[in-house]
Amino acid sequence: MLLSAAACMLIIAATCDSAKPNPKDLVFYIHITPGVTNTAILNATSGNPRFQPLTAFDLPVTAEPNSTSESLGFLRGLGIVFNGTVDSTPTLEQLLSTLFYDDGDCSGTLALHGLIDSSFSGLPVELAVVGGTGCFRFAKGYATIAFVSAPPVVLQYSVSLR
Ligand SMILES: *[C@@H]1O[C@H](CO)[C@@H](O)[C@H](O)[C@H]1NC(C)=O
Ligand SMILES: *[C@@H]1O[C@H](CO)[C@@H](O)[C@H](O)[C@H]1NC(C)=O
Ligand SMILES: *[C@@H]1O[C@H](CO)[C@@H](O)[C@H](O)[C@H]1NC(C)=O
Repeated sequence: MLLSAAACMLIIAATCDSAKPNPKDLVFYIHITPGVTNTAILNATSGNPRFQPLTAFDLPVTAEPNSTSESLGFLRGLGIVFNGTVDSTPTLEQLLSTLFYDDGDCSGTLALHGLIDSSFSGLPVELAVVGGTGCFRFAKGYATIAFVSAPPVVLQYSVSLR
């Protein structure tokens, strides 16, 4: 342990970071304030009621529900809502997102993708962790999303990695 710590001081930081074990669990909060600075609605409907507007988002990530708590990075991506009214199925949102994370010990990105019930009407709300970089290299797992409060919308992400 001491030897490896000493070795870390002699070689570049990136090498030391990659030698650290991946975190197993991660909880963070995102803050959505539509129409301010962190979301943009793009018109992807093309006149087809099946597809509702596409949302581009860039959201602050914190350690606690309070938006003024410790910053852990940001979550950026795209979401597209599939209008379930068209064929009487649940309305679901396809999320393609990347978490940029830095808590001082662990710094890296996680790719979080999935089709979720973003209205939180009772269906499971879960994304797949499809990979990562930095301290999350080779990451695999899932993330559940829970509604915390609104407005502005605060959501809790609980990530389990194996
Ligand atoms: C989006 O595009 C469709 C098809 O071009 C158009 O009919 C509709 O008015 C547009 N909606 C908005 C909000 O710009
Ligand atoms: C969030 O934290 C700030 C600064 O500590 C505090 O003033 C504020 O009351 C907190 N807000 C909530 C909703 O707890
Ligand atoms: C969803 O689909 C229904 C049925 O086609 C349509 O009436 C409604 O306007 C659509 N909603 C949106 C937001 O496009």
